[in-house]
Amino acid sequence: MTSNDMEYLTIALPKGKLFTPSAEILAKIGYTAEGLSEKSRKLVITNEEKKIKFIITKTVDLPTYVEYGAADIGIIGKDILLEENKDVYELLDLKYGLCRLMVAVPEALLQEKLSDYAHMRVATKFPRVAENFFNGKGIQMEFIKLNGSIELGPMVGLAEIIVDIVETGRTLKENNLIEIAQITNATARFIANRVSFKMKFDRINQMVEDLRAIVESGEKK
Ligand code: PRP
Repeated sequence: MTSNDMEYLTIALPKGKLFTPSAEILAKIGYTAEGLSEKSRKLVITNEEKKIKFIITKTVDLPTYVEYGAADIGIIGKDILLEENKDVYELLDLKYGLCRLMVAVPEALLQEKLSDYAHMRVATKFPRVAENFFNGKGIQMEFIKLNGSIELGPMVGLAEIIVDIVETGRTLKENNLIEIAQITNATARFIANRVSFKMKFDRINQMVEDLRAIVESGEKK
């Protein structure tokens, strides 16, 4: 690490649903910067006074920035952490951004048990998590990686079933898909680069304690 790297704390925030609640909870513990907005065209936003740099990343790439130390810390969903499987410290469950990772099928293809779907094609943004789930149950499937609009898969015959994030359940309902199994719940997590955590321990640890106090007080984010 250069002395410049040591002086600043670089925080990665993901674009998308977790951006706003994450920027809000960090602001509550004094970590903010003028112009920090998901809509910002600027991808690095600096608070010179507090020596903070925010970087805004694509959601799936966030753990990579933290793993390589391009960001010291970050906030990201557990679903992405499980799928990306990067070498980072997961320091705190921030408890917001709750969603479920589900297996779903079109109503017309509904079977009695999970094993009845063996050898069918699964469309998903989470092939690793999906494969671990089905392997754990001894069910062999074919996995097709998509990057979005997963629900389209079964509608056009690309796959029979899907593994996807469900929040309100609206997307599944509107596309006549039925949940048949839950893989896991996921919430936002505070993560850190392994070296940064040692080199900037006091600062990062203080953040974790301040964030923990907010999470435990049940304060609405
Ligand atoms: C996620 C997920 C579902 C939807 C679920 O997609 O993949 O499509 O949200 O939310 P709901 O249960 O509240 O309807 P996202 O908005 O991240 O976009 P994507 O489909 O392009 O990945």
